[in-house]
Amino acid sequence: MRLLKNPLIFALDVDSEEDAFKKLKPIGDLVGGVKIGPRLAYRYGAKFISKVAELAPVFVDNKYFDIPSTMVAAVRASFEAGATLVTVHALAGHDALKSLAQLEVELNRIRPFKILAVTILTSWEKSSLPESFHSWSIENHVKSLSQLVYQSGIRGLVCSGHELELISQKDYFKVIPGIRLSSDATQDQKRVMTPKQAMKAGAQALVVGRPILESSDPRQTVLEILESCSS
Ligand code: C5P
Repeated sequence: MRLLKNPLIFALDVDSEEDAFKKLKPIGDLVGGVKIGPRLAYRYGAKFISKVAELAPVFVDNKYFDIPSTMVAAVRASFEAGATLVTVHALAGHDALKSLAQLEVELNRIRPFKILAVTILTSWEKSSLPESFHSWSIENHVKSLSQLVYQSGIRGLVCSGHELELISQKDYFKVIPGIRLSSDATQDQKRVMTPKQAMKAGAQALVVGRPILESSDPRQTVLEILESCSS
């Protein structure tokens, strides 16, 4: 069984269940997965996640960062709610990541499931980092954290398309946000890539929100993104 139906993950960035299903209805059969963040997960909980999971694999993007046992419990709860992908912070460290890698093996005996680690948030610049981190560039932090994640046994990463070249390990499953068709507005994304560029640079999956959410013809937009992915 595959993790996603195709490489396109639709970021369901709305606030109500009604809006969520209104946005999902025309494209649920086309997208490879659906990303749900805290704004929906905390309002509607596990029941909502399992309802969306009937339409497409769900990526629960709550970016857990805590002590190992708490992270393991949170990831397990997300899986039980119906998640196929979840995010955690790489900065949680080796022990937490190693426990999570063991959990991933256990959960994969039930159905496909992947943990994605976030290295340095793509909205951060060097000055956003704590002062004690300043002696290293963002690129060095990304490289070092992705090595730490790899050594712990986790094989999933979320990163900017422009960081793909920093990740040397070939068998990572890399999920890339900040994707725009060349005709799209970029909104608050600083450095964007087209689906084609990101897939060529080594992405396995792409996260796209506003270009679909704000499209006057979302089905057509999804088809264009999928075409760009495979061209
Ligand atoms: O609307 P847009 O396509 O910019 O949405 C991108 C999605 O990816 C949002 O849900 C955003 O929170 C998420 N994301 C991101 N950059 C990251 C991690 C996640 O844009 N580094």
